[in-house]
Amino acid sequence: MKILMVCLGNICRSPLAEGILQHKAQQAGLDWTVDSAGTNGYHVGEAPHRLSQKVALLNGVDISQQRARRFSGADFAQYDKIYAMAVDVVDEMKGLAKQHFQAGKVDLLMNELHPGRDLDVPDPWYGTEPGYHEVYKMIDEACDRIIAQYTSNNQ
Ligand code: 4NP
Repeated sequence: MKILMVCLGNICRSPLAEGILQHKAQQAGLDWTVDSAGTNGYHVGEAPHRLSQKVALLNGVDISQQRARRFSGADFAQYDKIYAMAVDVVDEMKGLAKQHFQAGKVDLLMNELHPGRDLDVPDPWYGTEPGYHEVYKMIDEACDRIIAQYTSNNQ
């Protein structure tokens, strides 16, 4: 499986999603490729936000080596599944990918936990540390669900 996590800046939410799912896949013995990208280019080349790094490390996940990159339509050829952190992210992905957009590969990450409800992972960018802990917990639970569903369908 090749999975891409997408948010706006690729410095707060999707780096957490990449790190968490990669960590869980490794623990489950799954040889998955997990990556992340952002729809805006403001932070390309930067490491994840210091609070995303801090909260991840408190949970045993090191995301310090990640660097932000911009999402592009070419990602649809590379990945089996693309999870967007929020509805506005899906809109931005459509604008960037144009004819390359494949709706069948895209879902909101929170729909893994709450199917069909189209809930966002809130953007912690303007907030304080508790917001990053809340976002970590939401992403962590969704990633648990992804692994559980995959392993029950492929045993
Ligand atoms: P993220 O948060 O999408 O979770 O990485 C953001 C970080 C930066 C910006 C927007 C969202 N920004 O516009 O700079």
